[in-house]
Amino acid sequence: MMSEREDEMTGRAFPEQGKSRDEVLAALTDHRARDLKSDGHAFAFVYDAGAETRELAREAYAACMGINGLDPTVYPSARKVENQVVAACLELLNAPEGACGTATAGGTESVMLAVKGARDWARKNRPHIKTPKMLLPETAHACFHKAATYLGVEIIVVDVDETFRAKVDDARAKMTDDVILVVGSAVSYAHGVIDPIEQLAALAKEHGALMHVDACVGGCVLPFMVENGEDLPRFDLSVDGVTTLSMDLHKYGFAPKGISVLLSARRDIRDAQYFACANWSGYAIVNSTTLGSKSIAATGAAFTLLHYLGREGYRERAKQMWDGAKTVMSVVEATDGLELLTKPDMGCFAFRTTEGDVFELADRLTERGWHVQPTYAFGRSPAHIHLTMDPGNAANAAAFGEDLVACMEGLPATIEPPAQVVQMLEMVAGGGGGGLDSGMLMSQLGIADGQLPHQSAMIHRLINAASPAARQALLVLFIGELYS
Ligand SMILES: Cc1ncc(COP(=O)(O)O)c(C=O)c1O
Repeated sequence: MMSEREDEMTGRAFPEQGKSRDEVLAALTDHRARDLKSDGHAFAFVYDAGAETRELAREAYAACMGINGLDPTVYPSARKVENQVVAACLELLNAPEGACGTATAGGTESVMLAVKGARDWARKNRPHIKTPKMLLPETAHACFHKAATYLGVEIIVVDVDETFRAKVDDARAKMTDDVILVVGSAVSYAHGVIDPIEQLAALAKEHGALMHVDACVGGCVLPFMVENGEDLPRFDLSVDGVTTLSMDLHKYGFAPKGISVLLSARRDIRDAQYFACANWSGYAIVNSTTLGSKSIAATGAAFTLLHYLGREGYRERAKQMWDGAKTVMSVVEATDGLELLTKPDMGCFAFRTTEGDVFELADRLTERGWHVQPTYAFGRSPAHIHLTMDPGNAANAAAFGEDLVACMEGLPATIEPPAQVVQMLEMVAGGGGGGLDSGMLMSQLGIADGQLPHQSAMIHRLINAASPAARQALLVLFIGELYS
C-alpha cells in the first residue's frame, strides 16, 4: 500500500518531474480538508478576529516572507518591524523606562528564553547558586517544564488555592537561596485566572530572584478589558519586582502562528537571553532567540494587525469575547449537573460535570459541530472541559449554550475505565511496553490517520485514569506513530 508520503502517480516521495502550480496547490487544499476551521465553532486553537483581518494578515505575511531576521544589518526591516511590535507591547504593558524586548516564535520560546535569561543572569550576578531553581505554580503552562528540562533548572511546585491562583504563603514557605525565578500567570491557560502577581513579585525581589509573568494568553486582552472598565488585579511591567513578561501575538494579537514577545524590565536581563558565538570558522553569530535564520513573516503580520485594528479594535474584541464568555458561563451556572471550576478573569475557562460523564459531554458537543477541549484531572484541578473564547465563537455563544443544555439531557453517569487497561498503560510508562506494537494500540483505540475518532470519550477516560508519567509515555508513542 502506498503511504501518505508518496506521490500518487510515481510512488516516489520526491517526484522526478515537477507538477503544475494548480496540481500542487490542489494537493495542499486537499490535505487541509479535515483541519479545524476558523468558523466560530472552535473553542481552542483558533484566535481569529474575522475574515477581513485574516486576509490582511495573509498579505502582510506574504510581504515579509523573504526577510531573514538572522542579520538585521542586512535586513533593516527586520529590526524596524520587530522594534515597533515590541514598542507597542511595552507601551500596552506599562513598561518602565529602559525596558526592552525580543520577538520570538511563540509562547514556548518566550518562556524558554525567560528561563535561560534568568539562569544566565544568576550565573553572573549570583554565582554562589549551583543548582538554580524556579518557583512555579501547579497551574503554570507546561512549557516551563520544558524549559526546566532543557536548561537544567529545577522546579519547585507552588500550590494553588480553591480559585486556582498560586498560594503566596506556599511560595514563601518554599523560597530558598537558590531560587533564580518566580513565575506567575496572567492568565493561566486552564482556568483563566491571574495569579497574585504583586505579592509574588515582592517575594521574588525580597530574595534577589527575577520574576516572570506569563501573559502569553492575557497580554493582548487584559489591558483592553481594563480600558473597558473591568476591575482586574495588576499584573504588568509596572508591578515592582516583575522583570520579564511574555505575551503571544499569535493568540489574542490575532496574528498568524509564529509571533510572541518577551519583554524585559531592564537591558541586562534581556541581554542575558542572547546567545553569541565566535568559536567557529563561519560568520559571527549573535542570536536573540533560539533560532538562527528567522522568519519575520508573522512579526510583519502582527505589526500590520496592531496598526490596522488599533487599541479601539482590540478593545471592541475584548468586550465581545468577555460578553460571549459571560453568556456561556451563565448557562453553565444555571444548568443542573454543570459547574464552573472558578470564575475566570477573562474568556478562557473551565467547567466540569457534577452529574454525568464529562468526556461523554465533550463527545456530544463534538457531534453538534463544536470543538471543545476535554482536559484531564491534575493536582487540584478535576477533569473538565476547557473553552477559549475568540471573537468568532463569542458571536455563537448563545447557540453553544443551547447545545450545551441539550447535551446534558440524559447524559450517562461517570464511567470508570477497565482497571486492567489502565494497568497496561502504566506498564508502558514504566518501560514495560517494550514489545508493544504502538500501531496496533492506536488502531484498537480507534485512532486512524492521525485523528481521534469522533467518539473519543473512552480514550479520554483511560488517559484521565492513568498517571501523568503514563500519559506522557502514551503521548510520545502516539505522536511517534504519526510521524514514523
Ligand atoms: C499561558 C500559556 N503560556 C505559554 C503557552 C505556550 O505558547 P505556544 O503554544 O505559543 O508555544 C501557552 C499556550 O497555550 C499558554 O496558554
